[in-house]
Amino acid sequence: MQGKTAIITGGGSGFGREVALKLAKKGVNITVVDISKENGEETVRLCKDLGVKAIFVQADVSKVEDVRRYVKETIDSFGKIDLFFNNAGISGSGVKTVECSIEEFNNIVDVNLKGVFYGLKFVISEMLKTGGGVVVNTASLGGVVGIPTLGAYSATKHAVVGLTKVIAGEYGRENIRINAIAPGTNETPMVMAYPKEAIEQMAESVPMGRLGQPHEVADVVCFLLSEESSYIHGAVISIDGGAAAL
Ligand SMILES: NC(=O)c1ccc[n+]([C@@H]2O[C@H](COP(=O)([O-])OP(=O)(O)OC[C@H]3O[C@@H](n4cnc5c(N)ncnc54)[C@H](O)[C@@H]3O)[C@@H](O)[C@H]2O)c1
Repeated sequence: MQGKTAIITGGGSGFGREVALKLAKKGVNITVVDISKENGEETVRLCKDLGVKAIFVQADVSKVEDVRRYVKETIDSFGKIDLFFNNAGISGSGVKTVECSIEEFNNIVDVNLKGVFYGLKFVISEMLKTGGGVVVNTASLGGVVGIPTLGAYSATKHAVVGLTKVIAGEYGRENIRINAIAPGTNETPMVMAYPKEAIEQMAESVPMGRLGQPHEVADVVCFLLSEESSYIHGAVISIDGGAAAL
């Protein structure tokens, strides 16, 4: 993977940072995209410490002009995009669907669905110009089963799975390889912000009896972005300690 270029959205934290560092260790140059300047710049610093080139683009993935900008700045800096981890996303407030405010529903759709679509639209357009590339979209356990009290989140993650499958059918022959991951509950900052009892309950409900660690997701993402997975295309890979099996 030495010398390739990757864009990672949500690269300032959680899975995004973990994947950025793993790819940097393999010699991949990185564009970190995040709404948080502080966290994004910290990931860039950590990547540079590993000896690769890295840039930060502060962007809100739900804003189409921001997405155009992170693509343009990557091309201006590195000349091409080989790998895309389309990962930024937000959760919900944990209320039943009819109690979900219109504002919250729209906000989750804007980030988790429109943000993923804008990224696919502009990144794949560039990949097609340079002979192809590899994409991993972050869906969720909530993208393969319904999670009560996370209606908007589950709906958008099912939509990410749908987009992944459609694009697999549309662009596989043009050397675009695309897959989605469906992580269960992992100990990222997003999840560790929940109350302690809720975290314990979540861990108990998993067949393996524990939550996942971000590096267990990052290992799979890096495999899917690498040539080792060269015939995996249009797949939704569960990384959930068996949660989707129930
Ligand atoms: N943590 C889990 O257990 C879990 C499980 C399944 C799926 N996921 C998904 O994994 C992805 C990453 O989650 P994480 O757990 O690493 O969370 P995280 O909160 O640690 O990281 C998410 C990053 O995305 C950034 N971000 C949020 N909204 C953004 C926006 N509009 N534009 C740009 N950046 C934005 C945040 O600033 C943050 O740095 C999300 O799509 C999430 O839905 C997480």
